[in-house]
Amino acid sequence: MAVHVERDGAVAIVTMSRPEAMNAFNTEQLQALLDRVRELSSDSTVRAVVLTGEGKRAFAAGADISEMSSKGPAEARRFGELGHAIGRGIGSAPQPWIAAVNGYALGGGCEMALACDIRVASENAQLGQPEVTLGIPAGWGGTQRLPRLVGPGIAAEMLLTGRRLKADEALRIGLVNAVYPSDELLPNATEMAQTIANNSPAAVTATKQAMRLAFDVPLADGLTFEAQIFALAFDTQDQKEGMTAFAEKRSAKFSGE
Ligand code: COA
Repeated sequence: MAVHVERDGAVAIVTMSRPEAMNAFNTEQLQALLDRVRELSSDSTVRAVVLTGEGKRAFAAGADISEMSSKGPAEARRFGELGHAIGRGIGSAPQPWIAAVNGYALGGGCEMALACDIRVASENAQLGQPEVTLGIPAGWGGTQRLPRLVGPGIAAEMLLTGRRLKADEALRIGLVNAVYPSDELLPNATEMAQTIANNSPAAVTATKQAMRLAFDVPLADGLTFEAQIFALAFDTQDQKEGMTAFAEKRSAKFSGE
C-alpha cells in the first residue's frame, strides 16, 4: 500500500498502489495521496503531474468498502473531508494534474480523476459513480465536479444509475480527452505533461487558476481576474523570454520568474 512518486524531468508521475484492492482508498492510502499532493504543490521544480494507478486493471476502484461499511456519520464525515482535501489540493496546486485512467475509475477513483485538470484513458478503462448502489451518495466531489465537466443530464444519469461507462463513451461525452491502448497511455500522458512543463510555469499556473474560477464566480468577475493575470504577466521574465524567443526563432526557456 503506497503512493509512489517518480520524476521524469519537470514531470512528476504519481502512482496509487494498493493492488490487492484494485487501488481502492482506505484512510492510510488517502492520507498518503494528500501528503504527496501537498509535497508536489510546494516543489517549484515540478511543472506538471500525471496521476495513475498501479497495474493495468485499475486507476482506483473507489473508497475502500470494507473500511467504510462500519463507519458512523462522524467518521464518514472525516473520511469525506479527506477526499475533499485531495480534490481541493489538486485544484489549488500551481501545476496542472493529468489523470491517466488505466482501468477502473469508480466512485472515489472517478472523483480523483475529476479533480485533475485533464483526463486521458486506456482502452480498457471504465468510469462510473456507483455509490448509490451501495446506499450512499458520491462524497468526494462527484456531485459537483461531474455536472460541471459533462453537463447536468449525463452527470445525473451516471450519479443516479451508477452505470459504468467504457472508454469510448467517456471520450464521446468529454469525460476523458483521449483514449490509448493500455501500453501507450502513460507515455502519452507523460508527453502531454512534458508539453505543459515546457511552457511558462507562471502563465500555466495563472491559466489554471483562471479556468478553475470560471465555475465558481460570475462571468464578469472571472473576466476581471483574467484581465489582472494578463496584465501582471507583462511583469514576468517568462513573458520577455517567450516573446524574445519567438522573435529570435528559437525555443523559449522559461524560468517561472
Ligand atoms: N473497496 C475494497 N475492496 C475493493 C474495492 C473497493 N472499492 N474494489 C475492489 N476491491 C477488492 C475486492 O474486494 C477484491 O478483493 P478480494 O480479492 O480480497 O476478494 C479485489 O479488490 C479484486 O476485486 P474483484 O471484485 O474480485 O475484481 P473484479 O474484476 O471482479 O471487479 C470491480 C472489479 C472494480 C468492478 C469490482 O471490484 C467493484 O465493483 N468494486 C467496487 C467499486 C465501487 O463500488 N466503488 C465505489 C466505492 S464508494
